[in-house]
Amino acid sequence: MMTDPTTPLVEAIDGQLDWDGLFETEAERELEVGSGKGLFLLNAGQRHPEVQFVGIELSRKYARRSAERLARNGLKNVRVVWGDARRLIALQVPDRAVRAVHVYFPDPWWKKRHRKRRIFDAGFVKQVARVLKDQGRLEIATDVESYFEEIRELLRSDACFEERPADDPLQPQHDLDYLTHFERKYRIEGRPIYRARYVRRSGPCSEEPQP
Ligand SMILES: C[S@@+](CC[C@H](N)C(=O)[O-])C[C@H]1O[C@@H](n2cnc3c(N)ncnc32)[C@H](O)[C@@H]1O
Repeated sequence: MMTDPTTPLVEAIDGQLDWDGLFETEAERELEVGSGKGLFLLNAGQRHPEVQFVGIELSRKYARRSAERLARNGLKNVRVVWGDARRLIALQVPDRAVRAVHVYFPDPWWKKRHRKRRIFDAGFVKQVARVLKDQGRLEIATDVESYFEEIRELLRSDACFEERPADDPLQPQHDLDYLTHFERKYRIEGRPIYRARYVRRSGPCSEEPQP
């Protein structure tokens, strides 16, 4: 793992991540999977300075650019990790470490032979249950109805999760007042967006996942 002291960027593409050392202070943490250009991290970090946000992004270009933007805005409570979220969550994030996991507009990987690259599968859902605190939230949004239904089916068949109503979309007050960049793009285009919230049931709820 490498940390650049001038930006909130943490390079963990080698699969190593010092989770406890990400911040110098202790606070509740939330995790975003596939943070892209970083709009969620920027807006959430500004609205909730008392919370620590960690985004994991596979694209180096996006991870770096979003980290630079966070630094320009002086945000001290956000880190962008350049790495593979599936691997890092499974192997580097401790049990019960976060109060929310956000997954917005995960890549749908349309081609059949690429489907195995989708972030959501039963193993990923088990890892999310492992890292969430009791009553922690899993927040999801996508424009792909068929993927959304698959995700709901996965979560319905996992005893750890209970579905709850998702928040209504924000009424944007300015051009960047959206959940994420993809949300902004699709709302402007008028595409339907499917949203869901799940809460992790308290206590043990399924077998411990294998990394
Ligand atoms: C469609 S984009 C959405 C970006 C952002 N969430 C948004 O809504 O604007 C999906 C993002 O997930 C990232 N991604 C895909 N697989 C990933 C993985 N295994 N770990 C971390 N990021 C991943 C991609 O690089 C891309 O930036």
